[in-house]
Amino acid sequence: MKITYQGHACFLLQGKDHRIIIDPFLKDNPLARIKPEDVEVDAILVTHGHFDHLGDAVEISKRCKTPIIAPFELVNYCQGKGAQGHPMHIGGSYDFPFGKVKLTIAHHGSTTDTGAVGNPCGFLIFMDGRTVYHAGDTGLFMDMKLIGEMNDIDVALLPIGGNFTMDIDDALKAVEFLRPKVAIPMHYNTFDVIKQDPQRFVDGLKGSSTKGVILNPGESYEI
Ligand code: NI
Ligand code: MN
Repeated sequence: MKITYQGHACFLLQGKDHRIIIDPFLKDNPLARIKPEDVEVDAILVTHGHFDHLGDAVEISKRCKTPIIAPFELVNYCQGKGAQGHPMHIGGSYDFPFGKVKLTIAHHGSTTDTGAVGNPCGFLIFMDGRTVYHAGDTGLFMDMKLIGEMNDIDVALLPIGGNFTMDIDDALKAVEFLRPKVAIPMHYNTFDVIKQDPQRFVDGLKGSSTKGVILNPGESYEI
């Protein structure tokens, strides 16, 4: 599987036969290397309604005729805008043609221009025999220990920017709980308020069994 970063919380996962995108914030994302119209995917996973995550999901869904997979209330909102959707909720999992998706908790908000759209989430994605955890926007939470115990995580995508989410120190504690093989930092340096040095995160993992990998926007990691 190839994991490509587009800055902020946006990742493309490319498997043998399928591609998905998570939190497709592209058009207004100063770090993104692709445009919404460049995206060809089988599904669009969205962690919550904030503009820097929902991004261009509706537009991509309409053009690719592929579903937005997200918490129920957010999918309802997207369907109201003409997108296709597959509503789920926290703790639920479903087998899609590309693989299985399970929604995990995230401590955060979830609003759009119309107000609150339910709870935010994270995603466990099981695709081509690999397990990827995208934490979404969240603070550190103890249940990450349970997520780590119950899943053999290959790659954890973790926010490190602080202010809205975990900072580097909390993300390092999250890695202790999750025990992934690889941890990739996200949700930093898009805006001044979430400026961080990701190298400090990677250095903090030295001596642990998790390898820290910094992806610059546009770069990929193969697992
Ligand atoms: Ni957010
Ligand atoms: Mn965010």
